[in-house]
Amino acid sequence: MVKVVVGTQWGDEGKGKIIDFLAQDMDIVARYQGGGNAGHTVVLEDKKYVFHLIPSGILYPDKICIIGNGVVLDPVSLFEEIEYLEKNGVSMEGRLFIAENAHVTLPYHKILDQIEDKFRGKGALGTTGRGIGTTYADKFNRIGVRVIDFIEDDIFMEKLKIALKLKNYLFREYYKEEMLAVDKIYKETEIYRQRIKKMVKNVTLYLNEEIDKGKNILAEGAQGTFLDIDFGTYPYVTASNSIAGGACTGLGISPKKITHITGVVKSYTTRVGMGPFPTELKDDDGEFLRSAGNEYGATTGRPRRCGWFDAVISRFAASINGLDEFVMTKLDVLTGIKKIKVAVAYKFDGELYKNYPFNTKVFSNCEAVYEELDGWSEDISSIREYNKLPDNAKRYVERIEELIEVPITKISTGSSREQMVIR
Ligand code: GDP
Ligand code: IMO
Ligand code: MG
Repeated sequence: MVKVVVGTQWGDEGKGKIIDFLAQDMDIVARYQGGGNAGHTVVLEDKKYVFHLIPSGILYPDKICIIGNGVVLDPVSLFEEIEYLEKNGVSMEGRLFIAENAHVTLPYHKILDQIEDKFRGKGALGTTGRGIGTTYADKFNRIGVRVIDFIEDDIFMEKLKIALKLKNYLFREYYKEEMLAVDKIYKETEIYRQRIKKMVKNVTLYLNEEIDKGKNILAEGAQGTFLDIDFGTYPYVTASNSIAGGACTGLGISPKKITHITGVVKSYTTRVGMGPFPTELKDDDGEFLRSAGNEYGATTGRPRRCGWFDAVISRFAASINGLDEFVMTKLDVLTGIKKIKVAVAYKFDGELYKNYPFNTKVFSNCEAVYEELDGWSEDISSIREYNKLPDNAKRYVERIEELIEVPITKISTGSSREQMVIR
């Protein structure tokens, strides 16, 4: 079985928690895209772990974890994570593997990401500054460094020289910044090149063999459908295909082998960084969601923008990802709100839009058309059975289910593994 778990909004839907929960029944958890921009939180026995590159299944001592070719890998961030986990008694020995053909994020990618976003001025994207777009750009520009090149000293030196010739031209002539020295980067990365070697593997071959043996594989998506480079709110997106289809190209698995697709959806909406967000709340309700949901970026600490649930985008996410089910997170956060709104369409220039428009002018300026539902006041964080949820909470879930036309099979009511309602 190959199950893909994908974010269906603008990221931070709670994928980490859900992947950790679903990993119970899996043999392998494999990340298929994104890089250190991701922040996937897993809470286990009151301890909080935030994963940027390491798959969210790592806390199970018997699961194999894979970083796929679609990921851009920052070795500095990887080893920080490994060290943190090891300090906390999590051993990755012999069960964390990295694709040979994943691309490596090097110091100049991070510097350029930050400089470029500043240079965009008013059009800044608010990137995470982790060198994501710049690493993917080099991959597509065919001057990237793959993991397999990184660990071969002579090849790395050769590739680094070519890349730096170009980057230093930019630094010197255009950005008026200090140039970077080949030898310095070569030396500073030596420790990582040595340490990474034993984890590098032809993971595509391995995954396909394991699929043929009948093993259960969970493909972990980062970001969310509306941060996808093709289907998101371009240009306010990340630089990879975060949709479920990305699992095929980001791991080397045939579409024929994908058997289940699960979408993670928050019971309201959040977004970090710039870009259109029709249901955004800039009032007390937005403040309430941020504070009750503790909506601060897991990677950058930035406050997340908060708003009502948007059924228009979720319906689109269900369609392009081919979702079998939705898992809804953070229903507990809505407790205490008297009237909860759900967007069912948009209005722009006298026209009604029932579907997600690619036209940025429409999406940036439209007004959400809302339905209003009654809230509930009971604490639901310890409820495990659907029938025990307050009637209004059930009504909220069922109305959303009707609007998005895909079953909501599980509901998360807190950050820990046990806080799940299975329907
Ligand atoms: P991801 O990027 O999709 O993995 O999501 P993040 O980890 O960035 O953000 C989700 C946050 O919500 C984390 O702090 C989680 O611990 C927390 N969380 C996940 N599910 C729930 C839930 O059902 N209720 C509450 N209150 N918090 C949750
Ligand atoms: P997870 O996996 C939320 C956003 C950034 C910025 C835009 C582009 O935790 O859900 P990038 O650094 O990728 O070039 O930034 O995308 N972004 C995320 N927002 N969750 C994420 O990941 C994100 N990864 C990137 O804030 O707006
Ligand atoms: Mg996150």
